[in-house]
Amino acid sequence: MSKSAELARLIQSRAGDEPPRLGLILGSGLGHLADQVQGVAIPYSDLPGFPQTGVSGHNPRLVIGDLEGVRVAVFGGRAHYYEHGNPAEMRLPLEILRDLGCDSLLLTNAAGSLRDDIRPGGLMMLNDHIAFAGTNPLIGEPTDARFVPMTAAHDAGLRAGLSAAAQAEGVDLPEGVYCWFSGPSFETPAEIRAARILGADAVGMSTVPEVILARFLGLRVAAVSVITNMGAGMADEQISHDQTKAVAPLGAAKLETVLRRYLRDL
Ligand code: HPA
Repeated sequence: MSKSAELARLIQSRAGDEPPRLGLILGSGLGHLADQVQGVAIPYSDLPGFPQTGVSGHNPRLVIGDLEGVRVAVFGGRAHYYEHGNPAEMRLPLEILRDLGCDSLLLTNAAGSLRDDIRPGGLMMLNDHIAFAGTNPLIGEPTDARFVPMTAAHDAGLRAGLSAAAQAEGVDLPEGVYCWFSGPSFETPAEIRAARILGADAVGMSTVPEVILARFLGLRVAAVSVITNMGAGMADEQISHDQTKAVAPLGAAKLETVLRRYLRDL
């Protein structure tokens, strides 16, 4: 049996067999959502081979249970490329999700905005991305399955559902292009100007590898950024991880409103 199938069984022995209808990966400062789920919490440390993420503002545990009457699987933290230099670090968690019978994934992250009309505390849903970090989580994958089409990677159906939920709740959810920088240093003002010229609307240090892996594994995927700051050089402020953690909960509250509505209306 594959490692992910083994771990899926272990998880099912604790949380039950019913497949989650939606998987969620929570970004920096967005961990509060996991506490809202009525269910079973399993620390990553109980799951052999799981990425041990040490980023403050993440709570590394998997919570499986009920949110608005829908069974969800929430990953309270993610591994980032900048922690270990391995963009495929999140592959096992996503394989487990597939093996639990879940076919849809919502990724969340904290990001810097490149657009004057998308401000800190607001949200942006990704309609496309740029893998500016220059690596790919499928490097070394031996089969032809590695040639994953990315034309419509951000699922139109999931996005339509989330947009409708946002509109129903009166929450602004503009769509845009997310540009993945490796981090962990923040961008320079010149890099932000370059990203804007390239067509990006937001920048961040995660999510893109997971979108690629999700498509590889056949999961439908959408992603929402919580904007915690303007891109470097765009505002008269010093960008910091403390700021990310402080501002993220503002957007997280909006995201929770949208998500709850989305799940209720499923
Ligand atoms: N850049 C990269 N990652 C981020 C930012 C940013 O400005 N804000 C929050 N995460």
